[in-house]
Amino acid sequence: MTMFRSDLLKGKRILVTGGGTGLGREMADEYAKLGATVYICGRRGPVLEETAKELSQAHNTRVTALECDIRVADAVDDMMTRIFNEGPLDGLVNNAAGNFISRTKDLSPNGFNAIANIVFHGTFYVTLAAGKRWIEQKHKANVISILTTWVWNGGPFTVPSAMSKAGINIMTKSLAVEWAPHNIRLNAIAPGPFPTKGAWDRLNPGNMRSDSMGSETDSSAGTPMGRVGQMHELRNLATFLMADGCDYLTGETIAIDGGGFLGGGGNFSQLAKLGDAEWEAIRAMIKSSNDKDRAKRTV
Ligand code: HXC
Ligand code: NAP
Repeated sequence: MTMFRSDLLKGKRILVTGGGTGLGREMADEYAKLGATVYICGRRGPVLEETAKELSQAHNTRVTALECDIRVADAVDDMMTRIFNEGPLDGLVNNAAGNFISRTKDLSPNGFNAIANIVFHGTFYVTLAAGKRWIEQKHKANVISILTTWVWNGGPFTVPSAMSKAGINIMTKSLAVEWAPHNIRLNAIAPGPFPTKGAWDRLNPGNMRSDSMGSETDSSAGTPMGRVGQMHELRNLATFLMADGCDYLTGETIAIDGGGFLGGGGNFSQLAKLGDAEWEAIRAMIKSSNDKDRAKRTV
């Protein structure tokens, strides 16, 4: 159910990082549907190409796939040059991320960096590469970062993600002020559970958890509303924040979580009851998903 006029984003040029799958794909789809020219980036070329093709055909518009690993600052800058050579971006959605559940004591430095390099460093590289071009070209622009509610209360068993997302929350607030004179606004969305394959493979492997997350196939969840999020709800919020009309709104992080954060914290504190054997099984399942996804990457 869309809430907006069908040409609301006509003429806008928007990059959605991690737009080949999951929530990024949903937002890219909605933006293309509402008339925007959309770019999507990620590491798995074939996955991106497939999504770009499907969305272009569905909306009779151009959705461009760009293979780019946002952990690599030079690659991000090259991608941004390519995009801006076709014309300035108007919007950026920082959606790409990595995550997995683990006891923090079981993490290696490399395991921490696997997440932080994507979420904390990569998101900054993309924001900087767009922002410096916008400032130089005096171009009005809009950034939305996809966070989680645990930026407010912490993320037990997802500590590298929680630390990194909290950093991007503060980036949002800091740059909302620093870049306001340049007509650039930055806001963020903190979704509760919206089942996707990428997240559920790594945060609910084997659909073992029927608690706050719900399972990928079962829409019930331990939020006050008793359900997980529906994609159109996220798509509408991401459109509202991207469109013109509320240009005074900046520096805000908006939860869309059925009251989950307010009701029970919205994080994974309940995993404290798991023992060694369960954590070993979880790690093996996550490894299998990571290995399958990595096999599709060339960057
Ligand atoms: C402990 C683990 C681990 C696990 C990996 N590692 N899985 N450590 N427990 N379950 C460690 C590895 O042992 C290794 O360290 C290091 O992490 C890097 O592992 P790689 O497999 O080589 O990583 P890489 O190929 O770089 O992949 C990055 C990734 C992967 C983050 C690990 O999951 C990925 O590509 N994710 C992208 C998609 C994704 O995560 N989507 C979900 C977003 S959902 P050593 O020391 O052994 O070398 C989200 C919030 C949802 O963000 C909120 C819901 C409410
Ligand atoms: P997803 O489908 O796994 O999306 C993550 C995307 O990021 C993938 O398309 C992935 O593509 C891309 N990505 C990862 N590392 C990258 C890198 N180094 N460079 C470029 N792209 C990279 O999972 P999702 O659930 O849709 O998550 C999307 C966003 O929503 C994330 O920010 C997540 O934290 C947030 N979120 C999700 C939920 C939820 O319930 N689903 C809740 C709260 C927040 P490649 O692997 O091809 O690179």
